[in-house]
Amino acid sequence: MSQFQQKVELVCSDRMTEDVVRLTFNAPTIAVHARPGQFVMVQTSPGKDPLLRRPFSIHQVTSEGYLQILFKVLGKGTDLLAQVRAGEQVSLLGPLGNGFTLGLPETACLIGGGMGIAPLLFLATRFLQQSSSDNVAKKMPTVILGARNRTELEPLVDDFQELGIDVLAATDDGSFGYHGLVTDVLKKLNLSPSAGIYCCGPRPMMAAIAHLCQIENRACQVSVETVMACGMGACLGCAVPLKAGGYTHVCSDGPIFEAEKLLWSL
Ligand SMILES: Cc1cc2nc3c(=O)[nH]c(=O)nc-3n(C[C@H](O)[C@H](O)[C@H](O)COP(=O)(O)OP(=O)(O)OC[C@H]3O[C@@H](n4cnc5c(N)ncnc54)[C@H](O)[C@@H]3O)c2cc1C
Ligand code: FES
Repeated sequence: MSQFQQKVELVCSDRMTEDVVRLTFNAPTIAVHARPGQFVMVQTSPGKDPLLRRPFSIHQVTSEGYLQILFKVLGKGTDLLAQVRAGEQVSLLGPLGNGFTLGLPETACLIGGGMGIAPLLFLATRFLQQSSSDNVAKKMPTVILGARNRTELEPLVDDFQELGIDVLAATDDGSFGYHGLVTDVLKKLNLSPSAGIYCCGPRPMMAAIAHLCQIENRACQVSVETVMACGMGACLGCAVPLKAGGYTHVCSDGPIFEAEKLLWSL
């Protein structure tokens, strides 16, 4: 698998909400090799603080060679990244990890919670490209997105709607879409037994979805997050437990896993 470490130009920085930012880089070499579910390690400062790069899912790529990440400002690294201005250079390492394995668009259900929505736009785009190349009527994946409130969710839903996908939205406070959890929406859906789940979000959300899929004997791929130091299998700091015993490394074996392979409760 090809990986590149490159300084690339930031083309634009968009504040989606008070603390969520989308960066667009001119990164044609990484973009052309990227697959949905993979990530990049981003140097957040030209100096030594923070020393370590930060991992971000690849949010979208375009045929013009642009690559986007979408992130919430949490600490020093993301705060510095949010301050980078168009025209400045940022060092990216990627694409890293293993992406999602795509099934058929009409039997795919994408579920994202909070910043877990980030990798799903690229995934949804690939599903649509796949169905257009089949030269038949476009087949849409089902998309369920959840967040705390309308402010956090609406701008992200708009991105999917621009692709022509109707999103089933859920918010904790009921200010946008269904009042409740994405898992409630999933339970009410009459998904075909062959539909596979592609999911990214907070661990409790993914654990609940993994449990539902296990009961229904449904295929489920999850995108796992851990704190990462190297992102390339060298530091062994990103280990998560396997159901069969032992550990797996999120950066090199994931971040996409079949949900049934992981141990969800300790
Ligand atoms: C494969 C992968 C893909 C990711 N993709 C995205 C993405 O698309 N968008 C996005 O917003 N974030 C994503 N993350 C999380 C992101 O890497 C962290 O939010 C970021 O590293 C925080 O850096 P910081 O220097 O700002 O915060 P730090 O100073 O390192 O930490 C600040 C606070 O945030 C907490 N924190 C750090 N990392 C995480 C984490 N992974 N989850 C929850 N809390 C955390 C810390 O415990 C601490 O309390 C991803 C992580 C992984 C492993
Ligand atoms: S982050 Fe270093 S081995 Fe995974």
